[in-house]
Formats: sequence, C-alpha cells, structure tokens
Amino acid sequence: MPAVQQLSPVYPLGSTINERGVLEIGGCDTLELAREFGTPAYVVAEDDIRARARAFVEAFRGRADAFDVLFASKAFPCTAVYRLLAEEGIGCDVASGGELALALGGGFDPARIYLHGNAKSDAEIEQALAAGVGHIVIDNVDEIDRLDRLVGEGRRQAVLIRVTPGVRGVTHDAISTGQIDSKFGLSIEDARGAIERVGAAGHLELAGLHLHIGSQILELEPFRRAVEAIAPLGDFPVYNLGGGLGVAYTADREAPRINDYVATKVDAVRDVFGPGKTVVDEPGRALVANSCVTLYTVQSVKRNVSTWVAVDGGMSDNLRPMLYGARYEAQVVDRFGGGTRCHLTGKHCESGDVIVRDADLADPRVGDVVVTPVTGAYGHAMANNYNGVPRPPIVFAKDGDARLVVRRESYDDLFARDVER
Ligand SMILES: Cc1ncc(COP(=O)(O)O)c(C=O)c1O
Repeated sequence: MPAVQQLSPVYPLGSTINERGVLEIGGCDTLELAREFGTPAYVVAEDDIRARARAFVEAFRGRADAFDVLFASKAFPCTAVYRLLAEEGIGCDVASGGELALALGGGFDPARIYLHGNAKSDAEIEQALAAGVGHIVIDNVDEIDRLDRLVGEGRRQAVLIRVTPGVRGVTHDAISTGQIDSKFGLSIEDARGAIERVGAAGHLELAGLHLHIGSQILELEPFRRAVEAIAPLGDFPVYNLGGGLGVAYTADREAPRINDYVATKVDAVRDVFGPGKTVVDEPGRALVANSCVTLYTVQSVKRNVSTWVAVDGGMSDNLRPMLYGARYEAQVVDRFGGGTRCHLTGKHCESGDVIVRDADLADPRVGDVVVTPVTGAYGHAMANNYNGVPRPPIVFAKDGDARLVVRRESYDDLFARDVER
C-alpha cells in the first residue's frame, strides 16, 4: 500500500490521497471520475467554495459596521456556481449582459447585483434596468447622460462611480487596474467632475465609490493605500473596494488569509472615512480558484532536449499560462511525488501551449491521469474551442458523490451557431 503523502494546501479543502494511493476531491476518487466523465474535466469540491464564501462573510461580520460580499462572477460563470453562491446568501457582480443573464438564471436577487463594464452597450444597460439590478457602476463620463436617459422619467437608479486610485498592487500588467493609465475607471480629477454630473442627473442616485486595483495581489498594503488615495473625493455611504485577493497556485507560495485581507479593507475605510460606512467587496479568484482541479489524460511522452508530457487539453481549458505566464503545479493522480522533470504540454497547435513548464511528475506514462490544481478561477471562464476542441465538463464533488453540472461540449455544439451548413 502506498504511503499517504502530504497534500499541498493548493488542493481543495478536504482533498486526500486514499488508501489506493489516488487523489480524492470532495471524497471522490479522481481515477474513477476520469473514467466516468472523461478528460479533460474540471472537478469542483463544492464544500470548498461554500467554506470560502462563509469565511468572507464571517470576516466582515466580525469587523464591519455594514457590508456586502459579492461573487465577482467573471471568475467562474457557471450556473451551478452562481446557484451555490446565491444559496450562501452573498451578492453578485457581473461585467456584461451575458453574466447578468447567468446570474439571474442562477438565482441571484437582482437587487444584490452590481453591473460593471467599461463599454456597456445601451442594450446591456436596458437589460439591467429591466431586471432591476441594485447598482450600476459608472466607469466613464460618456456613460452618465446615457444612463440617466435610459433610466428615464419616474425612476431612479443607484450608481457607484469607479475611481482609478493611482495605486498599483504587485501583479502582472495584464491584470493590474489601479494605475492611472488604465482602461477602467476615472482618475481622481475626472471623478470629481463625474460626481457633480451624477448629482445633477435627474434619475441617478450616487450611493458611493468603487475601486478595484487588480487581481492576484498577494500583499495587503496597496489595498489600504487605494482607500487613502480616494479620500479627497469626500464622504459617501458605500465604498465598494473590488476584489483582488490572490491565491497560492503552487505549494511554494502563500496567500494572505481572508481575515487579514478583510481587516485591511474594513479598517482602511473606517480610519479614512469614519464609522458607519458600507464596505462592499468583490472576490472572484479567492472564492473559487482553489475549489477546482483539472484532470487530463497523458497522450504521449516525448524526449528530445526536454521531456514533453502531452495531455488531451491545454490552452482551450486553461489560457492563463499562455496569456500571462501563470504558474501551476501538476501531479499524476495515483503517483503523487515527482522525479521526472518535464513540460506538461497541451494538444494545441501553438508551441506556447504549455500548461506547466518544468513540472515534476512521477515517471509519467501514456494513459496516466494528471491533475493541475487551482483551476477554478478564469479557467472555465476563458475556455475556448481552439482547434475545434470541445470545452470540458464541470463535475461537482461532495461527500463522495459526483454530479455533472455542465456536460462536455459535443461536435454538434461546434456546428450549433452555423446558419449555413
Ligand atoms: C471590478 C472587478 N471586481 C472584482 C474582480 C475580481 O477580482 P479577483 O478575481 O482578483 O478577486 C475583478 C476582476 O477583474 C474586477 O474587474
């Protein structure tokens, strides 16, 4: 019997190596999951997402005068995930009409939804107004008169103004949004004008300010500096501070605790603006990233200068390594450990389609099932059909039971939008 090995904390809560030496997620044997649902497949430990949602709510409850936690749903826009987080009683942020439709379909109360977007169309705004979303976050000056007109006579819409505080967190440029030269939000100076303009608009109610300095941020201090930076804009009932809490993708990294992140934001608002403010937070990655793993099957092992372990997915199910060099780790699900330095590569027609460069796998062979943890955030969200590869299913695992919540795409799906065939 193989020795039970210590699992890295990057795996979903409750993950174990069972007595057969196989990784279990949500009490389900991953070799059996691969057999039943095929690969590649996203496997989500349902309890992990619930635990993290509760940790956010508890952290706020223990510290803030008033608060709301929103699921930044761009991170994992899947009906079953929306439903689960709606059940947990948190709110939701959407960044498009499509995400709004999914959030409503997943059961979110429209009053708890915030609509974002730096290029909202009239149709998206009308859709949000018809649904009765609680807040619309104004990203630019062009939007103000348009929104006021679309809200129209006899109605008022609560809005926030998104401010770019001029504060950078340490993260990749592609996901940094707090700097002045950003496509998102308004500079402090432009926000002053926007505040006046919204105040003069007949149908808009300015509830407060919004900021979001970026994503995958592992140091807390910039979150505080961002609050300090918007102080000159004055006092409002609501401060929505976006998301951004980073997670550990590999065992050698450590992320701040949810409690410390929440304390940093809540304390900053109280110190800068005084008591009684509503602090809103929009975690995406920190809610869902570590809840999910991707299972692949090895199709070939090639040795030249390097060892190339090629699997049946890649940049169609996880674009992050190719978009901005995101690091993951990998294991053979029934031989945890290592010993063979190799590149875990995808099946797509790009040399850049490498999921994990310099992976350390235990004697990888054709037919092995390989797992990459921490694929819950922006994995399914950015999945695509490059090379005509159908997108993977999503399987929820809990207490030893697995259920399919999103089926694998079929070849028929690839033809589904063709008007001419
Ligand atoms: C406005 C806004 N809020 C929240 C988030 C979620 O960020 P994260 O997934 O880093 O928590 C994003 C991500 O891009 C965002 O743009």
